[in-house]
Order: sequence, then structure tokens, then C-alpha cells
Amino acid sequence: MMSNLERATAQPGVYTHIPVLYSQVMEWLDPRPGRSYIDATVGLGGHAAGVLERSAPDGRLLAIDADPQALAYARQRLAPFGERVVFVQSYYTDLKRIARRTGFEQVDGILFDLGVSTLQLQAAERGFSFQSNAPLDMRMGPDADTTAEEIVNTWPEEELSRIIYVYGEERHARRVARAIVANRPIRSTGELAALVARVVGYAGKIHPATRTFQALRIAVNRELEGLTETLPDALELLATGGRLAVISFHSLEDRIVKQFMARESQDCICPPSIPQCVCEHRATLRRLTKKPIRPSDEEVDRNLASRSARLRIAERL
Ligand SMILES: C[S@@+](CC[C@H](N)C(=O)[O-])C[C@H]1O[C@@H](n2cnc3c(N)ncnc32)[C@H](O)[C@@H]1O
Repeated sequence: MMSNLERATAQPGVYTHIPVLYSQVMEWLDPRPGRSYIDATVGLGGHAAGVLERSAPDGRLLAIDADPQALAYARQRLAPFGERVVFVQSYYTDLKRIARRTGFEQVDGILFDLGVSTLQLQAAERGFSFQSNAPLDMRMGPDADTTAEEIVNTWPEEELSRIIYVYGEERHARRVARAIVANRPIRSTGELAALVARVVGYAGKIHPATRTFQALRIAVNRELEGLTETLPDALELLATGGRLAVISFHSLEDRIVKQFMARESQDCICPPSIPQCVCEHRATLRRLTKKPIRPSDEEVDRNLASRSARLRIAERL
């Protein structure tokens, strides 16, 4: 039987999806010929293709993804752009080192489109989806330190409850964590999804295990820590007038982006109790969107996965 990747690369249209907030990203990144860009989460290469088309004939793109399968797909899809694209399989936490090594130190735009790709969700064996039965993996890339199976079967109940509540925004987190611990070992996505559904019950369009799966994915890949560490590095890599665009799918991610952009847009960041500035902090960013850009109702109808997307953009001073 063909693997998911074989199927995808044999028929590059199979996973072609419309990337989230595509026209808004193009409008604000405003790719131009002769410029350089970084897509830190290239995924299936949808936004990347737009950047390369708009920056033809000589714009360059550094395309990073932690997931070797996503990168293989993006390589195939972006092959027509030839040497204008450089591909690197890595977590974006290594952004600064990768950019130095590949000659992308002063770029005109950097995009982060956080979260999972369609390819990952549809590849049952990756364990991201509760729609099929597979091992509880959920690593974005092979270098992650842990798996969802390890977290589910070894973390203390309190800690499980905390991540399910905070990262999953699951009201029933305590009950879910208690049920997980009582039913160990849990080896598959199907077992976990059924257990959570029994505890939480069905309501609305979204599967009851969505929030617990999201929480585990965020914990496995240390997504919030990685974003917090990497935004300052991205800022350093932007040339004057370069733009930083971040699409997040979770309120905690969005808060990290919002607070980072707000802080870097201010000259002084001393606490209000200090009468005279002692921090000597200088603004290096200008926010182009004070409020995040959200998908239209029409986009959400077409692509339910876009429902929680928020795009924030800032420009390097
Ligand atoms: C939503 S998809 C990106 C889709 C892409 N913008 C497109 O148009 O096809 C997110 C991608 O980010 C990758 N990813 C998530 N966390 C990452 C990290 N810390 N470092 C590198 N890649 C990461 C995932 O593997 C996935 O392929």
C-alpha cells in the first residue's frame, strides 16, 4: 500500500489546500523581486509558492519545516522555482543559525504559520488525528524529545490536567486527566479519543477530543516555548522595513505574539512605577495591525481549520 507521502508526491495536487489567510499574508508581506524571505513553517508550501511567484524572477526563500514529510512535499511543489528556494529540515528554534549558514541574515519578510498541516492531520500514523486509530505520536519532527504516548502514560495526573486545561482550554480537564490515569496504558489515538468522548460528551460540531489532542500536541512539541524563544531571533534577521507575519491558532500563541510585538514597538518598557526610564529599550518594530486579522466567514465555511486563525504583522524599524 502507498504511504501518505508517496501518494502526495505522486499526485502533488492531493494535499493542495488553500493556505489560511492567504491573500492577507500576501498583501502584508508584499513580496517583491530581488528580496529575500523566510517561511519558518513551510508545510505544504502554499504561502511559499505565493511568495516565490510574487517575488519572481529573483526573490529568494528559505523554507524550513521540522517535518521531513512536509519538506519532501514542499520540495516537489516548489521545484519549479529552482535555486530560488533553499530547504532546511529543522525546528525553527534554530532559525538564526540556519539563516546564517544559508545566507538569509537580512531578510524582507518572515512568516510563521503555526500548527499542523493537512498532510500531518491526514497521515494516520503520525497520531495527530482522532479520526483514525494510530500510535500516539504527535511529533512535528523526528527530533522532538517526547511523544504523546509518553506524556499520556507517564506524566502525573496534576500535570496532565494542567496542560489539558491551559493548552487545550478544556473545562473538563481534571476529569479527562483522571480518566487517562485510571485507564493506563493508553496506546492509540482511537483509545484516547473514545475515552475523552466518554468523559466530555458530544456537543456541537467539534469532536470532544479536539481540545485534549491539541493540548498534547502543544506539549509534545514545546510549541509555546519555541515561539517565545524564536520571535526575538526573527526580529534580528529582519532588514529595515522587513515584515514579520505570524498566524496563530491558539489564544496562548496569539498572546505571545501580541505581547512580543507590543513590547518591541515601545521605546521604554520600564514598569509605570519607575518615574524615569532606566531600561534604555528602543522600539525596533512598528505594528501594522493592532488587532489581529481573522478569516472571513466565507473562508471558515470553506476551511473549518481556519476558524481560530489570527494573523499579526509588524515591520522592522
Ligand atoms: C499550518 S502548517 C503550514 C502550512 C503552510 N503555510 C502552507 O501554506 O502549506 C504548519 C507547519 O509548521 C511545521 N512546524 C510546526 N512547528 C514547527 C517548528 N517548531 N519548527 C519547524 N516547523 C514547524 C509543521 O510541521 C507544519 O508543516
